[in-house]
Amino acid sequence: MKYFIGNWKMFGSPKSINILKKINLFYTRDKNRKKYRIIFTPPYTLLQNYSNYFKNKKISIGSQNCYQKDKFSSNTGAISSYMIKSVGAKYTLVGHSDNRIEGDTDLMLKKKVSYAIKNNLRVVFCIGENKTEKKNKKTFQVLKKQLTNVLEKKFYNNIIVAYEPVWSIGTGEIPSSQNLKETTIYIKNILKNLFRSKTPPVIYGGSVDGLSVQSFKEVKEIDGFLVGGASKSSKKFIDIIKNYYR
Ligand code: 13P
Repeated sequence: MKYFIGNWKMFGSPKSINILKKINLFYTRDKNRKKYRIIFTPPYTLLQNYSNYFKNKKISIGSQNCYQKDKFSSNTGAISSYMIKSVGAKYTLVGHSDNRIEGDTDLMLKKKVSYAIKNNLRVVFCIGENKTEKKNKKTFQVLKKQLTNVLEKKFYNNIIVAYEPVWSIGTGEIPSSQNLKETTIYIKNILKNLFRSKTPPVIYGGSVDGLSVQSFKEVKEIDGFLVGGASKSSKKFIDIIKNYYR
């Protein structure tokens, strides 16, 4: 099974649901539809509305983050997994580099993953090295730490790992397919040791669009994509799926 996930970041109003309606229509008519799933993570403000609309449809809805405490607490501006689940969302991203840069530590991320799974959300756990780490050849070291500091065996069934090199996000710079293949195999080996079983899905994110997907699809180890910019247009998002299966 492949995953095509759209992360809207700080984008979207109630009207933007039309973008997802078009993607849903494409999906229902696509001859390849049994091979993949579509998930979208709009901002918190749209979770309830979109989750209701897509309840019995093919697109699943998730949040972009969740707070590191359960249920309700006196933390202004915070939203817990319990609250996210209560409005019908099924997934959450955890550990996106946007949030790591703003201070999310491994300990906070471990709590976020734990509470998300406790509340029956499936977690898309994001990892990735930044430009300096890549330049200093620290990529594998960084990825290993990000994975082993947070993930536990009991999370296995509810995790998708998203490898998003920070230097590739929104820049148009992408890893070569050889490079991506090596990194994905490395991540899968770490996960195999960690979970002592088959590995969960590992997807790629960073400047994925209709063009770049043509080179990523050569990497058979990749189980899908986490798409930022190109997920804000139905045409661009559909082009990614079309070109992947072409
Ligand atoms: P872009 O596809 O815009 O590079 O963003 C990737 C991303 O951060 C998705 O979470």
